[in-house]
Order: sequence, then structure tokens, then C-alpha cells
Amino acid sequence: MRVQLIGLGSIGKNLLKLINEKGPFIRASTGEKIDVVSVSDTTGTVITDGLPLTRIIQAKEGGGLKTLDSFERISASSAIRDLESDIVVEITQSTKDGRPGIDHVVKAFENEKDVVTANKSILVSDFDAFGVAKEMGRSIRYEATVCGGMPVFNLMDYCVKPAKFLSVEGVLNATSTFVISQMEGGRSKASAKEEAIRMGIAEKDQRDDLEGIDSARKGTILHRRIYGSTRTIKDATILAKESEVKDGNRQITEVTPEGVKVEYRRIERNSIYSNTVGPAMLIRFNTDIFNHLTLFTDHDGPLESAATVLNDILLSRAERVTR
Ligand SMILES: NC(=O)c1ccc[n+]([C@@H]2O[C@H](COP(=O)([O-])OP(=O)(O)OC[C@H]3O[C@@H](n4cnc5c(N)ncnc54)[C@H](OP(=O)(O)O)[C@@H]3O)[C@@H](O)[C@H]2O)c1
Repeated sequence: MRVQLIGLGSIGKNLLKLINEKGPFIRASTGEKIDVVSVSDTTGTVITDGLPLTRIIQAKEGGGLKTLDSFERISASSAIRDLESDIVVEITQSTKDGRPGIDHVVKAFENEKDVVTANKSILVSDFDAFGVAKEMGRSIRYEATVCGGMPVFNLMDYCVKPAKFLSVEGVLNATSTFVISQMEGGRSKASAKEEAIRMGIAEKDQRDDLEGIDSARKGTILHRRIYGSTRTIKDATILAKESEVKDGNRQITEVTPEGVKVEYRRIERNSIYSNTVGPAMLIRFNTDIFNHLTLFTDHDGPLESAATVLNDILLSRAERVTR
């Protein structure tokens, strides 16, 4: 299957590494060959045409994509329009208005391509990605948008179908958990924040992590999915403040029929949240059958999220074949 990659940041580089390393295993186990046709960042597009993926990563980490012979100064939108592919992987940064991600998604649908994304901001504005996809006979998969490496929507889709979801609560932002737990270990806040950037777990604008916007985006995606609502990020109640990034607190997101709330709470020693240390995440679903079904990871970051994106690429392909 032919894939175009839009965005070559923390997740993009890990995705290329994974496709390179796991390609033969995936081919042997599923029969699918993942062919990365092009890779775009803000500077332009590399048309891969047999170029080893490791060379693209090296170039990105060195002088930039422009150092490669097959680099062209064409935008991601032009690449989506002009190059042949089956799936567009949209992994640009989350933004206030969802752009450029939304434009890339629309361009993909217009050119009869399906979308896989980790970009939360595409799914929390007035833009109705699922409605547009349906109208145009396309699909959008988005498992990595909420809790990166944890199977939140696949759990809903395949494992607990008879259950009605009543509410969700959790620590949905790894950066704030990482920074606070490092501070609990004696590190300064500034140094912990720098480390979170280095690890690739932080949003482009780190205030999105520490002031609850990233969590509110995730909560809004969950609200729309669980209650079929049309809430946007503007409807979320964000009470989290950076001054509350301190020992003993965790940033908690609550999703109920009434809405999405993000706030820092003091965590009791025996609370389930006391286990969230490092780049950890925890999400609890309260359903009418499964009481407090809980997913936990002690490490969520760009590698885990890239693996989820790769899984979505395979699921998208399987969906396309049966369509
Ligand atoms: N990092 C995580 O652990 C994680 C986990 C789950 C979900 N997410 C979400 O996944 C998305 C990607 O995350 P990330 O950490 O990989 O982001 P990132 O490191 O900030 O990378 C963003 C990439 O998008 C590229 N880009 C921006 N505007 C573009 C445009 N107009 N055309 C083409 N490329 C463009 C940037 O290009 P340049 O390199 O040229 O600047 C950069 O390569 C975000 O929306 C984030 O919220 C991240």
C-alpha cells in the first residue's frame, strides 16, 4: 500500500524507523508491503522512489530534507494532490484552529485517499472530519490522538461492544505527569520541561500540555465519540494552571455527558493515580457493565504513538479492501 507522510517530527521519524525495521515482519505476517511514496515537512517534499527510509531520517536530523536529491519545494497539499497514494498520514502539530491538518485531510479526501492521523486538533473544531469522510466515501482513523500508544477506540470498537459508556476519567497528558513526577524526585521544573521536549513527548507549544489544552482536546474527542456530540475545544472547562504543576498534583481529565473538565488535583497516597510516574498515562472508563475498566502505561511517547499510527495504517488498508 502506498503511503504519504505529512509531518516528520517526533512521531514521523519514529514511524519511518518502525516501517523500516518492522516492514519485513509485517509483510510476512499480513502480506502487506508498506511503500512510503513521499515525506513532507514545512520545507517541502521528498519523493522517496526507493530511497532508504534511514537516509530520510538522517537527512532530517542533519541538514534537512533539502539535502536529499529527490527533494522538491512542493507543499504537503501539492504532494497529496499530485502524487499517487492510498493513505495520507497526517502528523503535523496540533494547533489552535486545526490547520494545516484540516486542509491536508480535505485534500486527501478530494483525491480519493484515506487518512490516518495522530493530530488531535483536526477533530475538535467545527470541522466534522467524520461527516466529510462519509460524504466523500473515505475513512479517517485516529487511534493515536487519545493516549498515543493505548488502544482506546479499538477497545471501544472491538472489545466492549455491549457496554454503554457512562463517563471517563484519567491522566491523559504524559508531559505534565512526567514534569511533576521529576519534580517529586528533586529535579527543577525547567530541567524537567526541557527533558520532556528532548523525549518528544511534549506538544509544540508546551503550554498546551501544562495548561490542560492537550488533555481538553483528548477529552473533546472522547466526548464526541462516546455521546455523539458536536462539542468543540471551546466548550471544554479548562481549570488547569501552570502554577499547579507541583509535587503531589496530577492533571485529571473528566468526560461526562455534561462536558469535559481538566484540572489539577491533589493525589492521595493510595489513589490509583499515585502510580502515574514518569511519562505515564491512565484512563478509566465507567460503563454500565465494566465498572472502572482501566488502561495504564508507564511510558507513552512518540515511539508508542508511531506504533499505533502504523497499526491504523494496516487497519485502514484492511477496511479499504473490504469496502
Ligand atoms: N509526540 C507524541 O508523543 C504525540 C502522541 C500522540 C499524538 N501526538 C500528536 O501527533 C501530532 C504530531 O506530533 P509530533 O510530536 O510528531 O509533532 P512535531 O514533532 O511538532 O512535528 C510536527 C511536524 O509537522 C511538520 N509540519 C508542520 N506544518 C506543516 C505543513 N504545513 N506541511 C508539512 N509539514 C508540516 C513539521 O515540519 P518541520 O519539521 O519542518 O517543522 C514537523 O515535522 C501532533 O498533532 C501531536 O499533538 C503526539
